[in-house]
Order: sequence, then C-alpha cells, then structure tokens
Amino acid sequence: MGAFAEFAPRRHGTPAAVTVRAATVDDLAAVERVQDGAGQALLLDGIRAAILDSRRYVVVAVADGATDGEIAGWAKTHLHPRSDGEAPAGHYLGGVTVVPSWRRRRVATALTEARIAWIAERADRAFYVVNARNAASVALHERWGFREVARAAAFHGVTFAGGAGVLLAADVSGW
Ligand SMILES: CC(C)(COP(=O)(O)OP(=O)(O)OC[C@H]1O[C@@H](n2cnc3c(N)ncnc32)[C@H](O)[C@@H]1OP(=O)(O)O)[C@@H](O)C(=O)NCCC(=O)NCCS
Repeated sequence: MGAFAEFAPRRHGTPAAVTVRAATVDDLAAVERVQDGAGQALLLDGIRAAILDSRRYVVVAVADGATDGEIAGWAKTHLHPRSDGEAPAGHYLGGVTVVPSWRRRRVATALTEARIAWIAERADRAFYVVNARNAASVALHERWGFREVARAAAFHGVTFAGGAGVLLAADVSGW
C-alpha cells in the first residue's frame, strides 16, 4: 500500500458513528497499529511527548460501541513558536491517518473538525503542510477554506517524499 490514499473524488462512503476524544498514552499501541496498517512511519516517543504536551492536541476516533481499545484513526497538531522562512509561527494540523477499512466515512473530517475547534480557541489562523502529491489530503482539508501560501522542499524541518511540499493556511476565527 502506498503512503497516500488513491485520489478518488467520486468514491463516497456512509459517514461512520465515531467519537473523537483527546488521546492518552493508553492509546499508543492502537495508534501504532493504525500506522502499521496504513503503511505509515511512526516515532512512538514523539507521539507520547505530543500527548503529554498541553500546547498540542492529539486525538483519536473511536467507533461508537467499540470496547476493544481499537481506533478508526488518529491525528495531532504541532505548535511552531517561531516562523521558518515563509512558514509562519502558529498551530499546524499534523498528520492524520485513518485505518484503510474506515476511509471515506468522514473519520478524518471528524478528527480535523475537533482539531480546528481546538486551534480556533487559541488562534485566528490554522496552518498545514502536505506533500504536493497527496491530493486526497488536500481535498479533505478544502472544507475549512485552506488556501495555498507557499511551496518548498521543507517547512519547519518537515521534508517531503518526492521533494515538494505545500503550506496552506485557513482563517478559523469565528469557527
Ligand atoms: C487522507 C485520509 C486521512 C482521509 O481520511 P478519510 O477518513 O477517508 O476522509 P473523509 O472520509 O473524512 O473524507 C472527507 C473528504 O475528503 C476528500 N477525500 C478523502 N479521501 C479522498 C480520496 N482518497 N480521494 C479523493 N478525495 C478524498 C473527499 O472530499 C471526502 O469527502 P467525500 O467522501 O464526501 O467525497 C486517509 O485517506 C488516510 O489516512 N490517508 C493516508 C495518510 C495521509 O495521507 N494523511 C494525510 C497527511 S497530511
């Protein structure tokens, strides 16, 4: 499986009944399974640190009624206190990963909605960087009005497979 979902704009699913909540360190094993299942790399110590950092928001989506500790997806934010070239200081949406069998059921939408609401309580703008080839991710974020700000090989130390990343920003005041 590739790291990015195939871009399939006409494929839709039925929205899933999930609850999004703040992650705890007890969710780390489930987060690791999601990353493994999606073919995504993960630095578990980094996620643990993010969960324990009150300046960041790590969330998991739990299917309503699930009792086995499994999650349908997870996501995080980063706080960059200083600008880096064209990339401003501020709250950035971090990675969002959904288990393949749960995709196109609005799980990532729910995970992003929760993070946007959290950022909106702290700032007027939200940022996000993405690999220029990840069209599914770009489409996912359109509903919050993200607009391209810049393209570069790296933003805030994040590099991109293939070499091109996009920085996007959205006005979340009044969200
Ligand atoms: C990108 C990803 C997070 C989307 O998760 P998801 O739960 O399937 O997304 P949603 O169901 O909430 O999709 C919401 C909207 O985003 C867009 N979208 C999501 N996946 C898409 C795809 N594969 N192709 C085209 N559009 C897509 C659609 O507009 C979709 O609405 P629709 O289903 O009514 O058409 C998931 O495919 C994934 O985990 N990919 C691998 C990791 C990754 O690339 N993460 C993003 C890094 S920034």
